[in-house]
Amino acid sequence: MGLILRLASIKDADCLFEWRNDPDTRKASHSTERIEVADHMQWLKASLCNPNRRLYVVEKKHVPVGTVRADFDNGTWTLSWSVSPRYRGKGIASQMLALTVEEFNEPLVAEIKAQNIASIKVAQRTGFILQREQEGVLYFQR
Ligand SMILES: CC(C)(COP(=O)(O)OP(=O)(O)OC[C@H]1O[C@@H](n2cnc3c(N)ncnc32)[C@H](O)[C@@H]1OP(=O)(O)O)[C@@H](O)C(=O)NCCC(=O)NCCS
Repeated sequence: MGLILRLASIKDADCLFEWRNDPDTRKASHSTERIEVADHMQWLKASLCNPNRRLYVVEKKHVPVGTVRADFDNGTWTLSWSVSPRYRGKGIASQMLALTVEEFNEPLVAEIKAQNIASIKVAQRTGFILQREQEGVLYFQR
């Protein structure tokens, strides 16, 4: 489907901000509050120079369609992802994750709320295996 995965830059600030504040993205996140633009900019600048974080953007025909964040801790990368609201329901998340997992040699984990059926399907399709459930959150590993 011609998706490319690249590292995010400060030029992605607007679309990452829009996607982060999308109601479904907030619902799926650990922190469900609306983010202010100043906080977002601070977060993005810090993220881009954090050696333990990789922030990716996926493009289709030069249009940003999704993002994956990877955080390294204790030998493991924790992934979280979202697809642009305009591009959901087209199978993009599965392809985006398939590209992302190729970038890593270390174990990967994902924390997904139990009601997020689409993300659970996508994680399982990408080879993530359910380890445990705690307080409505499913912990996957790959
Ligand atoms: C979750 C999300 C990443 C899914 O991305 P997407 O590319 O739109 O995914 P799709 O719509 O192609 O759905 C993936 C699969 O789940 C299925 N699915 C979606 N909603 C479903 C539902 N309510 N019940 C059952 N299956 C569902 C789809 O049919 C598809 O299955 P298929 O590939 O076998 O056809 C996207 O909706 C999103 O960004 N949501 C907000 C942020 C988020 O939830 N991030 C993940 C945090 S862990």
